[in-house]
Amino acid sequence: MEFTFTEDQLAVKEAARDFAQNELLPGVIDRDRDMIYPEAEVRKMAEMGFLGMMVSPDYGGGGMDTLSYVLAMEEISKVDASCSVIMSVNNSLACWGLEQFGNEEQKRKYLTPLASGECLGAFCLSEPEAGSDATSQRTTAEDKGDHYLLNGTKNWITNGGKSMIHLVMAQSHPDLQHRGINTLIVDKTWPGVTIGGKEDKLGIRASDTHSIMYSDVRVPKENRIGDDGFGFKFAMSTLDGGRIGIAAQALGIAAGAYELAVKYAKERTTFGHPIIQHQAISFKLADMATEIEAARLLVYRAAKLKDMGLDYSTAAAMAKLYASETAMKVTIEAVQIHGGYGYVKEYHVERLMRDAKITQIYEGTSEIQRLVISRSILKGQIYQPIPESMHHI
Ligand code: CAA
Repeated sequence: MEFTFTEDQLAVKEAARDFAQNELLPGVIDRDRDMIYPEAEVRKMAEMGFLGMMVSPDYGGGGMDTLSYVLAMEEISKVDASCSVIMSVNNSLACWGLEQFGNEEQKRKYLTPLASGECLGAFCLSEPEAGSDATSQRTTAEDKGDHYLLNGTKNWITNGGKSMIHLVMAQSHPDLQHRGINTLIVDKTWPGVTIGGKEDKLGIRASDTHSIMYSDVRVPKENRIGDDGFGFKFAMSTLDGGRIGIAAQALGIAAGAYELAVKYAKERTTFGHPIIQHQAISFKLADMATEIEAARLLVYRAAKLKDMGLDYSTAAAMAKLYASETAMKVTIEAVQIHGGYGYVKEYHVERLMRDAKITQIYEGTSEIQRLVISRSILKGQIYQPIPESMHHI
């Protein structure tokens, strides 16, 4: 399976690469160490159109395809995964869901500022006791006629402190279980919304992760996305695309660490030779390159399926599973190749290794991706002949 790119797609990749190398790289170590939110860098991403890439120009977006988006995610993640998760959540989880399922008024009011990057969005599904088991929502949205009364706590919310618009999943009809869940659009400034402290994390330390408490927040009925009880399906469909974004992030982290490892292995000499000439190192690099290429094909394939309007749920789960496992393995090996230098911040690979870990956890752990894939196998949705429309890929 081969991919050819249009000039536009290649231009996006190049712009993202230049931005990452010239503007993200210089301060990335300091931002990571001191948990500094990349304010100016996110503003620049907005100006460059990286925060609403796939949104229609009718709502201020870039009107690009998913493949362009993953190419940009990959390049930015090679350098700064904190910035790329901010970008991924805004594009895939906030903008995409609103554009796909929101009504015209909701899109005008909320999607337009999100797509331009004038403000950021957050996707509020996880709770202290509902992570992988996302149907067990404890947050409630009580139907009060013309509004919902929202109560509960959300955990580990990316863009939690900086976002102005929250998409919050909450239970309105507990007797209906997941079919009673609604997704509500909540403005951060409304009374009853409290943002918890910033999480002190292992990796992606500059990204903005918070708990958010909702206490008797009045949410107008017109801020519900879709029909009553559509909220869980909204979350699952949106996460299918989100997983492509995180898969691209993992791919970028792996590729970034690999590029650094190759460079170092050519420069560093031991026993009279550059270490790349030692088989112990060159075989590691061979494995790393092969696994990255396999991950890349899975990520591009999932993006392409989405762009072609075909089912991509399982493909996204496979891409995220494989790319995140690859990111973890490759970054560990990149540290090993760097030896003692790999263990200090200056050489970047220890940060990439810490950043890789979260890709196996958020937007569905590796175990959840295996669950999604295995259910597809049970349903006979895998190993069907490749659709004719894909033969040219
Ligand atoms: N698209 C549309 N609907 C879907 C779907 C999909 N991909 N997957 C499931 N559904 C529907 C099912 O059809 C079912 O609906 P009906 O009963 O009406 O038919 C309903 O959702 C429930 O599905 P299941 O019976 O499969 O539910 P389950 O509880 O057995 O499993 C799960 C669901 C797949 C495990 C799900 O809970 C899940 O994905 N968990 C992981 C949650 C997750 O990814 N969290 C990430 C948090 S967000 C984040 O990390 C963002 C960030 O900040 C970076």
